[in-house]
Amino acid sequence: MADEKWVDVGAASELAATPLRKVEVGSVPVALSCVGGRFGAVSHVCNHAGGPLGEGTLDGDYVVCPWHHWKFNRLTGEGEPGFESDRVPSHGVRVEGGRVLVTARPVTPRHKNPHPPHPLERAIKREPGPIRVLGIGASAMDEKNPRYSGSDHLLESALAAARGQGAETRMIRLSALRFRACEGYYSKAARACTWPCSITQMDSEDQMDQVYEGLVHWADALILSTPIRWGQASSLYFRMAERLNCVQNQITTHKRIMIRNKVASFIVLGGQDNVQGVAGQLLAFFAELGFAFPPFPYIAHTRGWTAEDMERNVAFVQHSQELHDGARHLALRTVDFAGRLVAGAETGDMPRAGRKAQTVGTA
Ligand code: FES
Repeated sequence: MADEKWVDVGAASELAATPLRKVEVGSVPVALSCVGGRFGAVSHVCNHAGGPLGEGTLDGDYVVCPWHHWKFNRLTGEGEPGFESDRVPSHGVRVEGGRVLVTARPVTPRHKNPHPPHPLERAIKREPGPIRVLGIGASAMDEKNPRYSGSDHLLESALAAARGQGAETRMIRLSALRFRACEGYYSKAARACTWPCSITQMDSEDQMDQVYEGLVHWADALILSTPIRWGQASSLYFRMAERLNCVQNQITTHKRIMIRNKVASFIVLGGQDNVQGVAGQLLAFFAELGFAFPPFPYIAHTRGWTAEDMERNVAFVQHSQELHDGARHLALRTVDFAGRLVAGAETGDMPRAGRKAQTVGTA
């Protein structure tokens, strides 16, 4: 039975059987732990992004948050070594008459030190300057023994044409980056998917930050090139796309649109068919992120299902004036449309496509 300060949360014998669990102390959720018969009680709410500590695991005397694995001492609430002055609230806990009693109010307060934000967390603001075009090549290859890539080659032609129009360009080849696959933080809880990506925040070696920086902060336009693999875009493209979940999820979790007044176009190249299927997926995905598209937003080439003589296909792409002209014209349409969106955003006179993005769910 509880008095004014102490709340009975259950039988000690029963609660001791589970090392870590969530209990309600009045209306306050608490992470109750028991190791070697000794109970501890700290806030259920993680300092980082509000993860449910009572649903985590124990590492010695530390409660490990199930979302991104921050650790807090189960008895004192203090952060793991290196973060000791960060702490979640701790509650008093005692066993009396075989019952576990926990103080309704914490005995030590929450404390969050200001940690330097990740560089990607800065406000999204277009810096003055010419139109900026990011090329992303999604063809996979052995970086130590590179081969000719038709999709990369056409992308280079497109970027050269963009520069000829006065644009700044950057090119990222996904095969040159080391980045992990999405590990499904969103599947733990919507708010467990963070911006920047939880992996980017936890793993300084992960190089997906280059894509985030380019797409979210730097570029006005994206030109993405991909080969067709088994009727789809490349596996590297899909790995990147899944890591861009965190950009799209910001709309869901924070009503925050991160991609505004940006244009995307595509180069699709296959030894075999399904150009429209691949282009359809690309258009649908980048539309979900907030990109707009120029007229005729992709170019493509395939010699068809029976063309198994890939060396001829490669030679064709390498030397085809028509295809490289197509890539150049795609770039000109892309730069032109990006210029209209940027100019419209600056004057407030949005072209139709840009206006729609401005009016959906503002942050
Ligand atoms: S580590 Fe707890 S919410 Fe991220």
